[in-house]
Parts: sequence; C-alpha cells; structure tokens
Amino acid sequence: MTNADVRIRLLGPDDADALIRLAETDNLFDEDPSVAPSGALTYDAARSFLGDPAVLFWLAELDDETAGFLHCCIQRRRNAGPWAELLLMEMGTHLEWRRRGIGRSLLAVMEEWMREHGMEEVWVPANLYATGFYEKCGFAKDEGVILVKALG
Ligand SMILES: CC(C)(COP(=O)(O)OP(=O)(O)OC[C@H]1O[C@@H](n2cnc3c(N)ncnc32)[C@H](O)[C@@H]1OP(=O)(O)O)[C@@H](O)C(=O)NCCC(=O)NCCS
Repeated sequence: MTNADVRIRLLGPDDADALIRLAETDNLFDEDPSVAPSGALTYDAARSFLGDPAVLFWLAELDDETAGFLHCCIQRRRNAGPWAELLLMEMGTHLEWRRRGIGRSLLAVMEEWMREHGMEEVWVPANLYATGFYEKCGFAKDEGVILVKALG
C-alpha cells in the first residue's frame, strides 16, 4: 500500500451503511482488538448521526475496505475569535494498516477542512497509547486532566 492508494472521504447521511459496517468490526481499530465491537446504530440512527451538522466523520478506504476513520465534533465558541473549534472524538487505523501514514493522512484532511472553514484549533482527549502519534502530528500536551462521570 502507498498513501496514493488510500481514499479519504467525508461521510454524509447516505453513507449510513458504511458507518454500520465499521461499528460491526471496530474492535480492529481499537488499541485492544480483543474487545467486542462497540455495536452498530440502526440505519435511521446512523443517517441522523451523519446528518448532524456538528458531526464530521471521515473514512479512509483502500479499495472497498475501511482502513481508518476520524470522528470530530464542531464546537461553537462563545467569544471573539474563530467561530468554532474541533473536538477530535475518536480515530482509528485498522490493525493491519497501522504505521503506514493513514492516521497522519486523516489528520491532514481534517486540517484542510479546518482551514477552509475558518478554524484554528483542534482538541483531543487522547489515550496514552496514541499520545506519541498525536505529538508526531504536531499536537502538544495542555494543562489539566480529563474527568468523566457516568450516571449510575
Ligand atoms: C493512533 C493511531 C490512530 C495511529 O494511526 P497510524 O495510521 O498507525 O499512524 P501513522 O502511520 O499515520 O503515524 C504517523 C506518525 O506517528 C507515529 N506513530 C503512530 N502510532 C504511534 C504510537 N502509538 N506511538 C508513537 N508514535 C506513533 C508513526 O511512526 C508516524 O511517525 P513518522 O511519520 O515519523 O514515521 C493507531 O495506532 C490506532 O488506530 N490506534 C488504536 C486506536 C487509538 O488509540 N486511537 C486514538 C484514540 S484517542
């Protein structure tokens, strides 16, 4: 595979099937592929997700195979400056295609989209496994910690 073989496209509502197919084997895009796939949305829910104007979802494909994905949210800003920034929610490269530039290519497409849409910053709550990757791609550690609360 060369980078030229990878096609990256931004999904829309008509790509619901591709989103569902990805969810059926998304453990192969995880740090630990032995976990169970996350579970697919229904067709209508997948259409609604991809039709949400705040959702950006790119797929990297080699022929008909999904080799990687990148999911971001558009976060509006309440103050002066760029109208919004991106929150990088999740990304993954298929286990068999890691370390061949697919993750970097996905981020390059995201950055091109940001420039075209007047955005200057992207944030990622990264797992430890991926931190080195993000740093190689120009991200820097910021202050603070990420907290989460699950309602019991
Ligand atoms: C993190 C991940 C998306 C990287 O994707 P990838 O397609 O393998 O990345 P690339 O091949 O484009 O790598 C770009 C650069 O980062 C480096 N890199 C890749 N993964 C790395 C890692 N885990 N740690 C340190 N450096 C890494 C590569 O060597 C490459 O460096 P180079 O340009 O100097 O050669 C992939 O490992 C993955 O899917 N991990 C499991 C899911 C995950 O952790 N997602 C992030 C959630 S926050």
